Amino acid sequence: MTKNFIDINNFNKKQLNDIILIAKKIKKNPLKYSSVCQNKTLGMIFEKQSLRTRLSFNVGMQKLGGRVIELKGVDIGFDGTREKPEDILKVLAQYIDCLMIRNDDHQKLSVLANQNIIPIINGLTDYSHPCQILGDFLTIQEKFKEYSRIKITWIGDFNNVLISLLQLQNIYLFKLNVVLPKKILEKNRKEISKYKNKKLTLFKDPFLGSLGSNCIMTDVWISMGQKNKKKIQYFKGFTVNKDIMKNAAKNVIFMHCLPAKRGLEVTSDVLESDKSVVLQQALNRMFIQQAILIYVLKK
Ligand code: CP
Ligand code: NVA
Repeated sequence: MTKNFIDINNFNKKQLNDIILIAKKIKKNPLKYSSVCQNKTLGMIFEKQSLRTRLSFNVGMQKLGGRVIELKGVDIGFDGTREKPEDILKVLAQYIDCLMIRNDDHQKLSVLANQNIIPIINGLTDYSHPCQILGDFLTIQEKFKEYSRIKITWIGDFNNVLISLLQLQNIYLFKLNVVLPKKILEKNRKEISKYKNKKLTLFKDPFLGSLGSNCIMTDVWISMGQKNKKKIQYFKGFTVNKDIMKNAAKNVIFMHCLPAKRGLEVTSDVLESDKSVVLQQALNRMFIQQAILIYVLKK
């Protein structure tokens, strides 16, 4: 069986804790890990744009002593028109040791991962973004010693980052308020109901949802690949601004996976305020992904 990293809910608390612990150790003492991936090669296929994921995987793998090769989906015929994607993986497995994929088709990624040909890491799909949320959880743990006592509030769209956050909350059971525009909440109620538990509360009003919160998290209102640009009209009053931050707890932090659309989901002043930890989040992507690489490559 290959070891994959596809979704947060494929793991239990102990397995996730082990990955987070390795990430913390690498961050503290990177030199100790500078050759753990020697002679290993990570392949990366990006079918969508990326700055942080591309750089943090590439630099992170090199810092572990490994090599990286970036492959363009079109160059290698990953759309399946030249040969079947599983046949491509069988060939790739002759040259490289694990593969990170960013695409717009979660189903395709899961099917390929289940073939046990080569370890696969989900670098974002239309459905989820597990590396992001695990890195964010590391940032939250650095900021708050006791994550079980804090309240996190998501204000924004129902998207890939939120799905991974919901999966994480279902395992760690921290308090989570999810604030979605009425229309978007109604449309996704069935999917959200899968994650129901006593610590998860749904809101339609950003002020009610952010009251006393220790962490306000948001993301773009229209994710890469989403065609329905009209839905932006539902987000009236959803911009994370000074008033929302003031409504939260005194020790509140602001989180965003980036890239951010200033003036839409967040104002520039909040993004750049001393409450904002967005660059720490970007940095922590590297340590968490180094730990994920070590996990999938370990026999
Ligand atoms: N947060 C994140 O995944 O950024 P990129 O899309 O730039 O990789
Ligand atoms: N939800 C965003 C995340 C980008 C990192 C998107 O999918 O575009």
